[in-house]
Parts: sequence; C-alpha cells; structure tokens
Amino acid sequence: MTNSDNDWWRDAVVYQVYPRSFADADGDGTGDLRGVRDRLGYLGRLGVDAIWLSPFYTSPLHDGGYDVADYRDVDPRFGTLADFDALVADAHALGIRVIVDLVPNHTSCEHPWFREALRGIGRDRYIFRDSATGGPPNDWESIFGGPAWTQVEDGQWYLHLFDPTQPDLNWEHPEVRAEFRDILRFWLDRGVDGFRVDVAHGMVKAHGLPDVGPKEGRQAEMLGDETVPYFDQDGVHEIYREWRPILDSYPGGRMAVAEAWVSSPARLARYIGPDELHQAFNFDFLLAGFDAKSFREVIDKSLTEARIVGAPTTWVLSNHDVKRHVTRYGSLARARAATLLMLALPGSAYLYQGEELGLPEVLDLPDELREDPAFRRTGDSRDGCRVPLPWSGTAAGGFGFGPPGSAPPWLPQPESWAALTVEAQDRDPGSTLNLYRRALRIRREHPALGGGTLTWLASPEEVLALQRDPGLAVVVNTGEQAVALADLGLAGRVLLASEALDDEGVVPPDTTVWVQL
Ligand code: GLC
Repeated sequence: MTNSDNDWWRDAVVYQVYPRSFADADGDGTGDLRGVRDRLGYLGRLGVDAIWLSPFYTSPLHDGGYDVADYRDVDPRFGTLADFDALVADAHALGIRVIVDLVPNHTSCEHPWFREALRGIGRDRYIFRDSATGGPPNDWESIFGGPAWTQVEDGQWYLHLFDPTQPDLNWEHPEVRAEFRDILRFWLDRGVDGFRVDVAHGMVKAHGLPDVGPKEGRQAEMLGDETVPYFDQDGVHEIYREWRPILDSYPGGRMAVAEAWVSSPARLARYIGPDELHQAFNFDFLLAGFDAKSFREVIDKSLTEARIVGAPTTWVLSNHDVKRHVTRYGSLARARAATLLMLALPGSAYLYQGEELGLPEVLDLPDELREDPAFRRTGDSRDGCRVPLPWSGTAAGGFGFGPPGSAPPWLPQPESWAALTVEAQDRDPGSTLNLYRRALRIRREHPALGGGTLTWLASPEEVLALQRDPGLAVVVNTGEQAVALADLGLAGRVLLASEALDDEGVVPPDTTVWVQL
C-alpha cells in the first residue's frame, strides 16, 4: 500500500465477496463466513488490499440478504458472530481489511420493527400512508417492478422501493437515525475497516411524497439520468454528516463507500468529502461500452470530479447486480483488456468474486431456480452473476464449492466451468487468474500505479494511450487493427499484456499492455 494507514482506501483494490456464493465450509450448498475464512490465503495470494462482504446478516434472503431482519447478527446459514470475528482477525493478520455492507434504506419484513408495525405499533418508523383513491398513495414504482406500495390488512399502504419484503424506513424518525448510528458502532467495535452503503441515495424522500408524473417506460429506466422524488434528495447528506464523526472517532482509517445511482458525476461528488462519505462507486465506467471514446470520456469526467472533491475515484466493472463484464463486452479478451485498463487508473478498484477467473454470466439458469425478486416482475434476473465459484475438480462435486459429499450449490454451475476452476487456472501461466495476480503485484510495487495522475498520449481513435508517472504507459486497443507501440512513439519493455503477444512491439485488437518506459 502506498498510502498512509488512514488513507489506505484511496488506491485500494477491494474484492467483493458475495458470501452465499463464495465458498461453502459446512456443506449445505450455501457459502458461509467460514468458507471465506478458509480461502483468505487465496485472496492474499491474489493480492487484494481489502474484502467487501455483501450482507451475511440474519435474513429471510428474499433479496439475497439485502433484506436484513437483524443488523447485529449473522444468519445461521452464513455462520455466527464468532465466525465473523475469527474472519476479521485472520484477514487482518494477512493485511487484508474488511468492509461490510450496510443496508439502511429498508429492513426485511421480518425485522422486529416491521412485525410490530403490522400490529399497529411504531408504524412511523416506516412509511405508511392512507389512500383515498383505493389504489396506492402515489405513482412510485418499485425498482423490481410493480407499484412501490403494498396494502396491509387495515387498509393502509407501506412504501417499498424494492421488494414488498423490503419496507422502506422513515429516516425522519429519530429512532431510525439513532439505531443506525448504533449499528455502525457495533461493527466498528468488532473491527471492521469500512462500510459499503447500500442504496445510499435512497433514504430521504421528497417532502409530501409527490408523484413522479407521466413518463415513458418504467421509472427504473429513468434512474441515473433524471431525478425522481425518492432518490438523491438533499436531505440524505445530513445523515452522512452524522455518520462521518462516528467513523472518524475510530483509529486506522475507517471508511464508507456509497452505492448511489445518481444522474451525473457532479451529483455523485456531493456524497464525498471530509464531512460525508469517503468514496462512491463510479458506475459510469461500468456502463461504458468497450470503445476508446467511451472509456476516455468517462475517465476524464471521473478524474475531473475527483479533483474537485479531493478524493480519488473508484473503478468497477462487475458486481452482484450487473451482468459479468466478460458477457457484457462479448469476449474474455475484452474483459481482460478492460480489467488491465481499470487497474492502471488512478484511484481504487473494486473487483467482484469470480472475475479473476474470467467467469461469464450464466445465462441459461432454469427459471424455477432463479431467486432474484425482480425476475418474477420484470423478467430481468441478477442470478447469472451469483452462481457459486468453481474451485476445483469436476461438476459432480460442485467444483469444490463445498467439502466432498456436500449438498449441491444453491445455483447450478455450468459444466464448462471445469476449465475455469481455481485449480485449473492456478498453474496455467496464461490464465485469467494469473493475469490478475500479476497485475495486482505490479500495481502494488510500481510507483506509477495506485494514486497519481494520468496524461493522455496521442493515439488513433480506437486506441487509448496514457501515461502514468514515473515511467509507465498503458495502451488499450479497442479497434480492429493491431497497433505498433513504435507508431505511438512508445519505446519500452512490455510489463504486462492482457493477451499473449506474438510480437512484443505490437498490440493486437481487444488487448491492453502496460509498458515500462
Ligand atoms: C442494492 C444492492 C442490490 C439490492 C438493492 C436493494 O442495489 O446492490 O443487490 O437488491 O440494493 O437492497
């Protein structure tokens, strides 16, 4: 790490673990915290600085755990608090920091507060409304499809921006605010290094809950381009200003990263600063197509905003909510090229479990096995990027996801993954796993990588060429013609290439190289 202890997150490589699908130590077909702990050596060897654990809290798992019934405990399927403590201790011993997911916009319908609310007690901790029309109180739609309101027995309606099993909390209620300050302290006391804040743009709703109004298509399609009265309201920033002093009161650089889908990098920048959150996911990079122009535009915009807020940006290509980037870009070569671009940019990078194996999205899961609550209402499903990791052996054994004799993984792995297991890739120097390992090692050791600045170099339209100082150039060829390094004025040794090169001086299509100048 190049930064001081408190600033570790500025250029960190953070690996997202979706615990349900990472590794299954107890053999029940569902991954667990012991499974993560057992594989910390793998993550250490991969070279990541931190792991971010998607929710492992007590939950009915109607939305993969983003529906929390108890914010201070581990779901028995994932283990116990003692397993969590042991995982943190072992990770820290290996120099790996631990970030946990915080889900403040909504609870599970099984949270004790919501159970009470259904009995008419403390309903004002949620957003319950009467409706005179016989239909929902306003025109808001759930991100997962259908109205964002569900009616309860006595006729009132409650708001849920996601699944009906995820009622939205009322952040105007002081008890809600106090509860989350306490939850933050609970996990900080257990030694976590940071939080990934789920739906960080969602907690505060526009006063009076006004209609969105007429629009074409689903409201969810407007997100990221237009403002809606339920996202990115100014009042949300007050919450972060309450949280920041809590984080700062602990030693060792405790941080928070926002998951906020907002309409522009400028709006996103408002979540970041010395009195709010440390970072926000930069989804524009993930949304860019595989072409030099789109990449360059997004990189320029992101770096400009980062300079304004004085905090380096984040880069991410895959996570548990989007199609894996191998499939998005249409080839493994492109995915590897995009990864080497990402890892060479100034700022921190977030990796999603399995991308280091070059896993594609699993597109042909049987409908009856799909669990994403959005699937039933929209036909879109995020299950294909949540298929359990293949570690070793043959499909019959679940690719080593659990110990021998385990129940089959909760989602089936394609047989073609036999060639993509960790075991199969470990000793193959050309494997994606070894590419990631080499990239992360060079990133850690090379003084030009991590933080710093970026200078664009002259290049043909379909090629990105950039310089990182001291002494490193990065060339990404998104075009159809090979490009000679000499034609770009670059003389130097290729440190790393996303594909094997026939000729050291020539970058084929869909390839990125790092050149030592
Ligand atoms: C976030 C999570 C996603 C979840 C949603 C509701 O977007 O990343 O997985 O479904 O919030 O909590």
